[in-house]
Amino acid sequence: MRYLSIGTGTEISRIGLGTWQFGSREWGYGESYAGQQARDIVRRALELGVTLFDTAEIYGFGRSERILGEALGEDRESAFIATKILPVLPIAPVVEQRAVASANRLRTRRLDLYQVHQPNPVVRDGTIMRGMRTLQQVGLVGEVGVSNYSLDRWRAAERALGSRVLSNQVRYSLVTRAPERDLIPYAESADRVVIAYSPLEQGLLSGRYHRDSRPANRVRAGNPLFLPENLERAAGLIAALRSVADAHGATPAQVALAWAIRSPAVVAIPGASSVEQLESNVAAADIELTGDEVQALGAAADAFRPVTGRAALPGLVRARFGPGR
Ligand SMILES: NC(=O)c1ccc[n+]([C@@H]2O[C@H](COP(=O)([O-])OP(=O)(O)OC[C@H]3O[C@@H](n4cnc5c(N)ncnc54)[C@H](OP(=O)(O)O)[C@@H]3O)[C@@H](O)[C@H]2O)c1
Repeated sequence: MRYLSIGTGTEISRIGLGTWQFGSREWGYGESYAGQQARDIVRRALELGVTLFDTAEIYGFGRSERILGEALGEDRESAFIATKILPVLPIAPVVEQRAVASANRLRTRRLDLYQVHQPNPVVRDGTIMRGMRTLQQVGLVGEVGVSNYSLDRWRAAERALGSRVLSNQVRYSLVTRAPERDLIPYAESADRVVIAYSPLEQGLLSGRYHRDSRPANRVRAGNPLFLPENLERAAGLIAALRSVADAHGATPAQVALAWAIRSPAVVAIPGASSVEQLESNVAAADIELTGDEVQALGAAADAFRPVTGRAALPGLVRARFGPGR
């Protein structure tokens, strides 16, 4: 495993583990996953040197935090725990109370990274950062982070906090490359971190799914990328991933992860539905892509034009309610 050296107590692994899947009905992995497999995934991740574990108070309405806290158990100090607050009423007393509730579910006295899950469209960050500052002063929170923030808002949050907002957790993958415009350059120049979520585009980049074999769960039923037409359109990108993967004795998913963390300021937090997936994802931290490979993947990604937005709506409705879905 490789780690970031940016002055955090526990160093952050370049590949972490996303735990939205833990106990969340929308992923549909069921009770044996929530009850045992999720725990096994965390234990194996620790063995393999993963330190970054990402959760949120909203995942499974607290269940993800509970499962993670229980699974880390006595090894909590080897982990860098990142959780998130949904900023519905971001006044200081509420922020403080929600942090305590998350810490209790996680069985810890310190949240290593406490992230604002998404920008509140109405309330500016001065309000929430007052609570964050107090939490840092009393030692309940180590680092403050944000998620789904623009660069302007990230920097405004830093001004409001009066110190660094370590990370911005955003969707970043070969299919979603917007963070390359300004977030990643900022993180590289200012010793900040971009935490890439959905780095496998929820499994699309594994190459496992195609027109006649589509994943069935609520998360992906609502994701236009899994429409039959888009799975067909993704064939060129998957072929490019496969070709690079063959050269490394790796899988398309591993190459997609290696691509996502090629900047030293980016770490990725793939979710996993099995211990095998976790193992494979962790091994991707050691794959070094050549400049030519990065270029070839970028070209294949540019050529992938999925149907999205309004144009995707009829397909999504058909996929959900129509015949032969
Ligand atoms: N801040 C935010 O707003 C936000 C939003 C979304 C996610 N997140 C965080 O980011 C994490 C990851 O994002 P995500 O779960 O949306 O997407 P992801 O990591 O791109 O995809 C995860 C899914 O891909 C499949 N997969 C994983 N490893 C694989 C492998 N080696 N080979 C083949 N398939 C593999 C699994 O699904 P199957 O096996 O079922 O195909 C798994 O559930 C979440 O757990 C969460 O912590 C944050």
